[in-house]
Amino acid sequence: MNISVAIDGPAAAGKSTIANIIAHRFNLVYINTGLMYRAVTLMCMRENINYTDVKGVCKIAKSLNIHFGGDKIIVNGENFTELIKYPKVSSNVSNYAAISELRKLLVDLQQKMASKCNVIMDGRDIGTVVLKNAPLKFFLTASASERAKRRCMELNGKNISAEYDKILDEIIKRDYIDSHRTTSPFIKSEDAIEIDSSNLSILDVVEVISGYIRKYIKEHNLENSR
Ligand code: CDP
Repeated sequence: MNISVAIDGPAAAGKSTIANIIAHRFNLVYINTGLMYRAVTLMCMRENINYTDVKGVCKIAKSLNIHFGGDKIIVNGENFTELIKYPKVSSNVSNYAAISELRKLLVDLQQKMASKCNVIMDGRDIGTVVLKNAPLKFFLTASASERAKRRCMELNGKNISAEYDKILDEIIKRDYIDSHRTTSPFIKSEDAIEIDSSNLSILDVVEVISGYIRKYIKEHNLENSR
C-alpha cells in the first residue's frame, strides 16, 4: 500500500521547507510541483515565448527533461534550483500556470512520478486534482504579511535582493491569479486538514503533520520509519 501526502497552500506559506523535512522523516519522495511551473516559465522567458503563445509554451514544456534530486531540480541537465526562485520568475509564473494545456502536460507527468513511489507533493492543485485520492491532505495557510516577511528573509538569505512591499504585492497578485484561473483554480480540497501557520514555527507545523502521518501508518499497519 502506498502513502501519498498532498500539501497545498498559497505563495510562500512554507510548503517546500515543511515537505522537505517530512520527506526525510518518513522516507518519502518529495515532488515540488511549483518548481515545474517555474522551470517552464524560466525556459519560456529565455526563449522569449509569451504566455499567450500556448503552442510555443507547450512545445517548450515537452522539450524539458525534469529530474528531482532531493530538493534540487535539474532541467535538461542544468541545475535550475536557485535560478527559478528569482522574483522575475515569480512574477510571471502564474500567467503560465493558468494555461490549461500546460497544466494537463504537467499534471500527467506528476501523476506518473507519484505512481512509482511513496510521495509527498506540494503545490496548488495536489489535493483537488493531482493526488485527488491521497489519504493525507493538508492545506497550509498564513497571513499575506507573514508570508511576504518569510519570502523576503528566504531571498535575502540567498543574496537575492527583495523589498518587502514588492514581495507582498507579488504574492497577493499571484494568489489572485492562481485562485481565479479557469482550470483547476487554487482552492482547498474539502477533505484537506487546514493548518494556519501564521503563529507557528516550521517545526510546529512539521509536528502537526507528522502526527497525522504516524496515525495513518499505525492504523494501516504500514512500515514505520520514525
Ligand atoms: O514557493 P511559492 O509558494 O512561491 O510558489 P510555488 O509553489 O513555487 O509555485 C509557483 C507558482 O506555480 C504558483 O504561484 C502557481 O501559479 C503555480 N503552481 C500551480 O499552478 N500549480 C501547482 N501545483 C504548483 C504551482
